[in-house]
Amino acid sequence: MSHNKTLAGRPVISSTGLFTPAETITNEELVDSFNRYVERFNAENADAIAAGNTAALQPSSVEFIEKASGIKARHVMAKEPILDPGTMEPRLPERSNEELSFMAEIGVKAARQALEQAGRDVADVDAVLCAASNMERPYPAMAIEIQQELGIEGFAFDMNVACSSATFGIQTAADYIRSGNAKSVLVVSPEITSGHLNWRDRDSHFIFGDVATAVLVEDAAIAPDTHWDILGTRLKTVFSNNIRNNFGFLNRASPEGEGKADKLFVQEGRKVFKEVVPMVAEMIVTEAERLGIDPQALRRLWLHQANAGMNRLIAQKVLGHEASADESPTVLDTYANTSSAGSIIAFHKHNRDLADGDTGLICSFGAGYSAGAVFVRKVA
Ligand code: COA
Repeated sequence: MSHNKTLAGRPVISSTGLFTPAETITNEELVDSFNRYVERFNAENADAIAAGNTAALQPSSVEFIEKASGIKARHVMAKEPILDPGTMEPRLPERSNEELSFMAEIGVKAARQALEQAGRDVADVDAVLCAASNMERPYPAMAIEIQQELGIEGFAFDMNVACSSATFGIQTAADYIRSGNAKSVLVVSPEITSGHLNWRDRDSHFIFGDVATAVLVEDAAIAPDTHWDILGTRLKTVFSNNIRNNFGFLNRASPEGEGKADKLFVQEGRKVFKEVVPMVAEMIVTEAERLGIDPQALRRLWLHQANAGMNRLIAQKVLGHEASADESPTVLDTYANTSSAGSIIAFHKHNRDLADGDTGLICSFGAGYSAGAVFVRKVA
């Protein structure tokens, strides 16, 4: 069905899609592999360690990971090489220019599900944004590959705002709808975070998982009967060095830095925790007030999935009481941190039971720092 309706200029979320890689790594498997690597390293470097020239590596622990983060397992694109103490990286064989890139491939899977759920004909889709925290290559854009694979006309581009890529993508899409520049925009977030995670780093080796999500943002005039009105969106960035990834195209111009740990994800997790919780809670409450929404009346919070303790604190500050699992659902126990996709997975898996008129909040936060809030109301 193709639409010729008068547009409303009012953005809604028509549907979402999710692709979950089949393979999972439990904390037990992860720690077993990591500790075998530590034993091997310490044995191979025994003399240097004894002489005080090299620091012995410390083992990881399942109990620490679960207590500090709430993460119990993660999905990955390539389990075996990650768990091999001699490799500890994903292995995804290089593809020819005629094949879909890995990010486009999983993005298309999530996007197809969103299109199907909305009953949307691709002829009605005007744009594709690939919003993710890492891009497989600079160009051509993964978004254009996804566009091509799905047979969408119009335009597509990649955008990266780290953990907040998806919510920044939703606001960008919503602004196209508000301005009348588009009536239907796919925001796709393929997150192959296993590629930027330093699996040899005890402080962070447990943090991330792989996934892809899609959100179809549309003009209310063409949306399916059941959808989510976007009541308002708010974005915020504040510079911080506490989460960094210095990988980039100029690395080859500084060969002295190649292979160093900062060319993968690094963070000061405790500082991030302390600084981001108040920043995000304040942003949510201020924006809710501006929109005339009582934050304590929000029926559900779909929060960024990095740390269960952070979410507990943010939800408490927003709702004014300890949030139940129903009010602030968790997916990081089985997905770990999937960067920008986390709050979208939570929304995708936990929205069908809400009633007509219920309000909720999709909220992301992370590197930059960056934070994004999308206030929604169910129409059913
Ligand atoms: N196994 C066992 N012990 C470990 C460990 C591991 N894998 N990793 C670190 N430790 C130790 C540390 O060495 C430290 O020991 P010490 O007290 O003797 O110095 C202790 O555990 C505490 O480490 P710390 O890094 O302070 O832990 P934490 O409670 O802050 O938890 C995070 C770490 C990363 C889980 C947590 O800080 C976090 O999630 N922060 C928010 C991160 C975030 O949202 N980032 C956004 C990314 S998108």
